[in-house]
Amino acid sequence: MKILIITGASKGLGKAIATYYSKNSYQVISLSRSQSKELEGIRQIACDLSKLDEAEQIFRDTLKEVINSKPESITLIHNAGSLGEINTLENIPAQNIKATVTINYTAPLLLSSVFIKETEQLTIPRKLRTISSGAANGAYHGWSVYCSNKAAVDSFTRVIGIEQASAKNPAHAIAIYPGVVDTGMQTQIRNSSEGAFSNVERFKTMKENGDLASPESVAKLIYKIDTDSSINNGEIVDVRN
Ligand SMILES: NC(=O)c1ccc[n+]([C@@H]2O[C@H](COP(=O)([O-])OP(=O)(O)OC[C@H]3O[C@@H](n4cnc5c(N)ncnc54)[C@H](OP(=O)(O)O)[C@@H]3O)[C@@H](O)[C@H]2O)c1
Repeated sequence: MKILIITGASKGLGKAIATYYSKNSYQVISLSRSQSKELEGIRQIACDLSKLDEAEQIFRDTLKEVINSKPESITLIHNAGSLGEINTLENIPAQNIKATVTINYTAPLLLSSVFIKETEQLTIPRKLRTISSGAANGAYHGWSVYCSNKAAVDSFTRVIGIEQASAKNPAHAIAIYPGVVDTGMQTQIRNSSEGAFSNVERFKTMKENGDLASPESVAKLIYKIDTDSSINNGEIVDVRN
């Protein structure tokens, strides 16, 4: 059995990814705070990534169970993400900064570390995929935490690529930019005030013009990228290319 462990499959892009992999014969396990009734056949485990110690334990237990089931391959997709509060940096409460950094960056970094270590002795494919964002390379007013977190996940992806080059059975890491996807995250962006996010009108216009990609279409592209053996370890890939 091919296994996918994915964070944040309760809604949005993660839900579409989980559904698509499940249809393609993967056994899918989702870790998120809430559960979706629409995810049939997918195991949903309650997990708040902002509570790092608890999340680590839940992930360790899940991974151990997966390894004991002697799977054909294990893929971990870090999909859960949060914009946090959209505002100029000095106006974002400290607690919100800490929680957002933990969800977007520290949790993927830590779970990747556990994943690489605990699967080290396996001879099966071991894949790490992180849903990043074009925001990693941009500087968007009001998005200091999000932009910098996505740049950071790109960075650790590149480093894993280098570190694993000499491994016997390298864990293969890529970061993926999904484009602008019609999810709750985009609703949050459009609901921002212009004072907090000066570019809000552009995102409203994109929605009005039908320029947002559906989560289902992006999930298919992510699957294609994930299963494309020509993509190098540590690469950053944009679904729009
Ligand atoms: N939508 C876009 O245009 C866009 C563009 C570029 C990149 N992305 C990236 O794509 C990924 C998916 O975003 P989306 O648009 O699908 O967002 P979304 O609709 O807001 O969904 C976010 C997912 O993350 C989970 N999540 C949030 N906080 C969590 C926490 N503390 N612990 C566990 N899970 C948590 C949520 O589950 P619960 O609420 O149930 O916990 C939910 O399933 C993110 O990494 C995002 O940065 C999105």
